[in-house]
Amino acid sequence: MSIIVSPSVLSADFANLGRDIDLLNESEAEWIHIDVMDGVFVPNISFGFPILESISKRTEKFCDVHLMIMQPEKYVHQFIKAGADNITVHYEGNWHLDSIIRMIQEQGISAGVALNPSTPVSVLKEVITLLDVVLIMSVNPGFGGQKFIANSVNKVREAKELIERSGSLARIEVDGGVGLHNAKELAEAGADILVAGNAVFGSSDPKHTISQIKNSGTK
Ligand code: DX5
Ligand code: ZN
Repeated sequence: MSIIVSPSVLSADFANLGRDIDLLNESEAEWIHIDVMDGVFVPNISFGFPILESISKRTEKFCDVHLMIMQPEKYVHQFIKAGADNITVHYEGNWHLDSIIRMIQEQGISAGVALNPSTPVSVLKEVITLLDVVLIMSVNPGFGGQKFIANSVNKVREAKELIERSGSLARIEVDGGVGLHNAKELAEAGADILVAGNAVFGSSDPKHTISQIKNSGTK
């Protein structure tokens, strides 16, 4: 089975966003990763509903929305209206994780939970069978182009074990510092979906790079 590549538009050229989405449309990427940051949960502000809406109107790809915001439950409905096909929220700062996962799924889309590098996989034990996606952050969230934290590979293995032990159908996504240099190792550890921002948009041939990541990650 080959890996799903989810290019992160955080690294796209926002003055040419339509062009960059068209490029992804012509590529082997099956998902598009959309990073929403509020300047409170993470030390950066990215974009919100209008940008997601413009992207989702221009693509048939699966819109994978990663919310790095406080109180995400307030905005789930609006993100779905704007075109989200999956919403991933962070474990950190969410007191009512079970309820927000159910809230997302009850509105007809898939739900994920993201873990910061310092958060152990074991915190997901009670919700793992509910989840569609487990997102292992392999950098501290907030910015594209950071260095991959090596211990993340162990966390992917632990997530895989937890999923298999519990009979969960969740897929494992890895986000941050992912590229050709670590795609194979991550796929072997159990990753199903690889997010890549800088590796794709910083490449001289993004479509080729997407294809290479996908194929180097073939399991
Ligand atoms: C970081 C974001 C990532 C980021 C990945 O907070 O969640 O999705 O765009 O970018 P790269 O692949 O450049 O590390
Ligand atoms: Zn992300």
